Amino acid sequence: MEIIIQPTPDDACCIAARIIARQIQTKPDSVLGLATGSTPVLLYRELVRMHREEGLDFSRVTTFNLDEYIGLPPNHPQSYNRFMHENLFDGINIPRERIHIPDGVTNDIPGFCAKYEQDIVDAGGIDIQVLGIGTDGHVGFNEPSSSLASRTRIKTLTPRTLADNARFFDNPNAQPHHVITMGIGTIMESRRILMLAFGSNKAEAIAAAMEGPITSMMPASILQMHPSVHVLLDEEAAGKLERDYYYRWVFDNKPDWQKH
Ligand code: F6R
Repeated sequence: MEIIIQPTPDDACCIAARIIARQIQTKPDSVLGLATGSTPVLLYRELVRMHREEGLDFSRVTTFNLDEYIGLPPNHPQSYNRFMHENLFDGINIPRERIHIPDGVTNDIPGFCAKYEQDIVDAGGIDIQVLGIGTDGHVGFNEPSSSLASRTRIKTLTPRTLADNARFFDNPNAQPHHVITMGIGTIMESRRILMLAFGSNKAEAIAAAMEGPITSMMPASILQMHPSVHVLLDEEAAGKLERDYYYRWVFDNKPDWQKH
């Protein structure tokens, strides 16, 4: 696990965007796993800029989103489908048929989830998975106590996650309590993982996940078992790490060929 601490979310997102751009340039038909929420917004803005100003080509890229609210149709203002179009897809040249987002209004949730898993396999597997982290340590919407081997399925959000995300809903009664989310086992099969976390409200979860025991009570801690993870943090999110001096030393002393 490589933990990279940067002064601001902008600096961290520029590094994340460069890692993704290099992936796409090396393998134009890359498969990206994508997250929603506040955290990746600056990353997506930088990818849109790279597309417009530097010609970063998404025409052969395939994407799979982590999750969607059950009950929200794709054009609902708070759906993750709408979020992805507004923040990324409308600004890049990705063909619509290469975009995959869980269907929040399917009437066959188990069947949809099984097909989503198969679609990821048929696309060749995920090359880079972008992740945020919940204040309770969730990844995707795999809340504490989720099986560390779980696959795409329905999950019930915790009161804490509902409260954290209430800011996106004008009417709290309109906030769904259930989601379809990729499982932790699904996420762990990605070849590389980029986790982003910003702000002091993420510091506790980041410290527990990166430096604490691996446990389903802190789902992000399973990333310690993945062979290729970059964790990109701002100073605030890194605020409770005990070994931050070591992560900074590693980053500052990288050989040239390994620099981001
Ligand atoms: C979103 C997702 C969630 C978020 C997490 C953090 O697709 O999978 O795990 O990454 O809830 O959300 P923000 O970024 O809004 O703090």
